[in-house]
Amino acid sequence: MRHLLSVSDLTRESATSLLDEAERFEQALLGREVRKLPTLRGRTVMTVFYENSTRTRVSFEVAGKWMSADVINVSASSSSVSKGESLRDTAMTLRAAGADALIVRHPASGAAHQIAAWMDEMDSGAVSSGRSAGSAPAVVNAGDGTHEHPTQALLDALTIRQRLGGIEGKRVVIVGDVLHSRVARSNAFLLATLGAEVVLVAPQTLLPIGVGTWPVTVSHSLDAELPGADAVLMLRVQAERMNGGFFPSAREYSIAYGLSERRLALLADHATVLHPGPMLRGMEIASSVADSSKTAVLQQVTNGVHMRMAVLFSLLVGTEEAIA
Ligand code: CP
Repeated sequence: MRHLLSVSDLTRESATSLLDEAERFEQALLGREVRKLPTLRGRTVMTVFYENSTRTRVSFEVAGKWMSADVINVSASSSSVSKGESLRDTAMTLRAAGADALIVRHPASGAAHQIAAWMDEMDSGAVSSGRSAGSAPAVVNAGDGTHEHPTQALLDALTIRQRLGGIEGKRVVIVGDVLHSRVARSNAFLLATLGAEVVLVAPQTLLPIGVGTWPVTVSHSLDAELPGADAVLMLRVQAERMNGGFFPSAREYSIAYGLSERRLALLADHATVLHPGPMLRGMEIASSVADSSKTAVLQQVTNGVHMRMAVLFSLLVGTEEAIA
């Protein structure tokens, strides 16, 4: 496996090995005055973002820099994409410029897969480790449309493991706009692979056609699901993917699916709340809940850096076993 495009690229063993690797990086950096490991010295990581991002782009950049890689950030608005350059020409240009890894975010589902296919086509003899200059870069899907966001799911799994002491047998409730959420899909499948019981809570209008094939159960009542939850993952309402309107209305949504203080009190003492960010305070989560000690949002961000270190390491240096 040369790329990380989907959580389906991961087995239970390879995902667990990435979680362990992320914690090893955290330990390796703990208490250091200079957070710099030589791990990726001489490697070039390029982030290519056609959609806005704070957490994912910054954490990949920090991860690369803490491992001594050269990190180049390319955004669609400030690159030749704005002059009409195609996705293929952009990807091939970055490859020719020396990318060892391309971290891709794109509004089209499947964009990262397509780039990986172009790379593999050109370089069918390339190997996944010890890559020489000029060979095909590894491609990481940093969010493609409504499809997948595998590194987000990995960092969420790491956060759940740290907060609850494990993932196997835990009941994880994913709440809200599942229809437009690549985070929901990647989390549902990865958490199921890791042995969690996953429940989706959403209005019928914000569930994808085909959710019946997912390894989850579905509920429409948040109040009914909260008392039995070990972890609750709140999703952002993705208005930018809704063509100007959605049902239920924002107010109805917030009343039925928002995590209020009253609802927070329904959770067990040990339960934890996650949100991938950016949060819409007052919409899917009350501001006081977002800032409560039960909420792991900033721990997720910190884990995101260590998780992306683990992913870059596994793709650029590690063995085939690190990622299945
Ligand atoms: N969770 C997440 O993908 O956040 P960004 O859009 O800020 O990267």
